[in-house]
Amino acid sequence: MSLRSIVVLGTGTEVGKTAVSSALLTSLSAQAPGKWAGLKPVETGYVEATSDAGRLSRAAGHRLVRPRFTSPHPVSPHLAAREAGLELAPAELVEWVEGQRRTLGAEGALIETAGGAFSPLPSKVGMWALAQQLPRARVLLVAANRLGVLHDVLCAISALRGLGVHPEAVVLNELAADHSAAGNLMELPRLCATEVFRHARDQTSAPELAAWAAQ
Ligand SMILES: Nc1ncnc2c1ncn2[C@@H]1O[C@H](COP(=O)(O)OP(=O)(O)O)[C@@H](O)[C@H]1O
Ligand SMILES: [Mg+2]
Repeated sequence: MSLRSIVVLGTGTEVGKTAVSSALLTSLSAQAPGKWAGLKPVETGYVEATSDAGRLSRAAGHRLVRPRFTSPHPVSPHLAAREAGLELAPAELVEWVEGQRRTLGAEGALIETAGGAFSPLPSKVGMWALAQQLPRARVLLVAANRLGVLHDVLCAISALRGLGVHPEAVVLNELAADHSAAGNLMELPRLCATEVFRHARDQTSAPELAAWAAQ
């Protein structure tokens, strides 16, 4: 298995980043216990018992790793940080990720970002900066499979590529799939030239994605 990081970006908030990340970590940890850390560097609207960080830690099979920055308020991280008198510097978050991974003794880390790919961190950068700055990061873009998703994905990929961030795979998550879902799955590989995976409703493991991650 390659020793690197997987950065999970979303086309928006609530598209299924945690659902997909947990399923992927469940499959990865079944294959190779202890090899992968599941980390959420920044989480707002934070309630420990139901947190994304907790779900990722459980799926990866390690102790709870609390995010580097949390806020109980469900607002954009940069606003929550500003309110707390802090600046969320991507380089510092990257250092935190590497430190946590080392402490856990994991060889790779899956990092779930907060909100959408362009949700702001300060200094005119977004969550995408984590993908840009983490060494040897592979980027997974999660989108909700519904009418409009072709636009959402093409827009995000085009803007990300302009910043030197190249999603290698897209996951179409069927959290409330509509009539367009099957066609979206067929069309997207041709339109965006990446691998495209389907994540079904209530899916709790992701063996195909895990095989991709292990490449
Ligand atoms: N494939 C799915 N099947 C069932 N529920 C889902 C699925 N994907 C997401 N959800 C639900 O939709 C909501 C948002 O998903 P979540 O993974 O938390 O999104 P994000 O991490 O992008 O904010 C959650 O309540 C989650 O349980
Ligand atoms: Mg989440």
